[in-house]
Amino acid sequence: MARIVTIERHILETQRQHPEATGAFTALLYDMALAAKIIARETTRAGLAGVLGAAENHNVYGEQQQKLDVFADQMIFKMNDHTGRLCAMASEEHEDIIPIPPHFDSGKYVLLYDPLDGSSNIDVNVSIGTIFSIHRKVSTGQRGTLQDLLQPGRKLVAAGYVVYGSSTMMVYSTGEGVHGFTLDPGVGEFLLSHENIRVPATAKYYSANQGNEKFWTPGIRRYVKWLQGIEGEGRQPLGHRYIGSLVSDFHRNLLRGGVFLYPGDLQKPDEPYGKMRLMFEAQALAFLAEHAGGYASDGIGPMLDIQPHSLHQRVPLFIGNRDLVEKAEDYIRRYDQEWVAAYLPIRSRQPVMTEEQAG
Ligand code: AHG
Ligand code: MN
Ligand code: MN
Repeated sequence: MARIVTIERHILETQRQHPEATGAFTALLYDMALAAKIIARETTRAGLAGVLGAAENHNVYGEQQQKLDVFADQMIFKMNDHTGRLCAMASEEHEDIIPIPPHFDSGKYVLLYDPLDGSSNIDVNVSIGTIFSIHRKVSTGQRGTLQDLLQPGRKLVAAGYVVYGSSTMMVYSTGEGVHGFTLDPGVGEFLLSHENIRVPATAKYYSANQGNEKFWTPGIRRYVKWLQGIEGEGRQPLGHRYIGSLVSDFHRNLLRGGVFLYPGDLQKPDEPYGKMRLMFEAQALAFLAEHAGGYASDGIGPMLDIQPHSLHQRVPLFIGNRDLVEKAEDYIRRYDQEWVAAYLPIRSRQPVMTEEQAG
């Protein structure tokens, strides 16, 4: 029988390996695990808001049941605003930096999160997720600023995600391997189920919204034909799996081997950067992909080396097996000069910050 390790104990053991890591960092990861358990509980009732009487559809806090992404967003904020561990937060659901209320202490980390990923799948009972990442405070002032948030992924101290699927799983890394925990609802604990996840050398799947093929650039069209074994040296075709929740597609490819791509295109030449969000989706998953032996790119170069210029910056995303992602970069270099010319100036924009925001 494998050893039974809860996520709390695993985090504590990880902290022991990082003498400089304070209890605050460990407690911050606990807080995310607790938020995940509470959101998981609400996802099982997501469709019942209209069915149960008013009395029934209140959550454990007696609050009127809300749309799940609002609930998840507020749950993560309320779990972290008062702990004194964070100096600021940022959420996919909020335009600007989320300050720590002045009557609470400010801490050494910032938390960025996509509270509910795959929102279009909530009402049709398809798996969805939460994505989060943690940077260290770098600004010199008392409270957090935009400078603390707009850091490249290479600087991350931790990142993780939760998949609310047939089972609820939490996967995280602090840079010492990528570890997966499965929620035992009866016990209410996340138990270690996938220690030190490594992307399998042989990929099984590719994930892309084929409905966008009409708009793909020449390089991307040829790349997908290569993934399908139609173009190039006649490789074994990959299976196509696309759930429409990034976390779920990423999770399956992490465990089985594969590549997820959401490319940019030239439908709107001044918006060549696709749909994925750098600070709330791509950075966190790129950190995990690299620590599991994979790779993530925006089609030009490593996702983790991109210097963010704005909080809601969108990037093309290619993530999974390193050889498959690098092949995408090849096809783009060879066939998509027009797209590259439109995207590069945006990619290399510098952050626009006021004196005060620059901390
Ligand atoms: P979110 O619900 O947080 O906005 O994320 C949705 C994203 C991502 O989860 C998914 O891979 C992608 O949108 C699907 O986009 P398309 O429906 O355009 O394929
Ligand atoms: Mn998302
Ligand atoms: Mn979302």
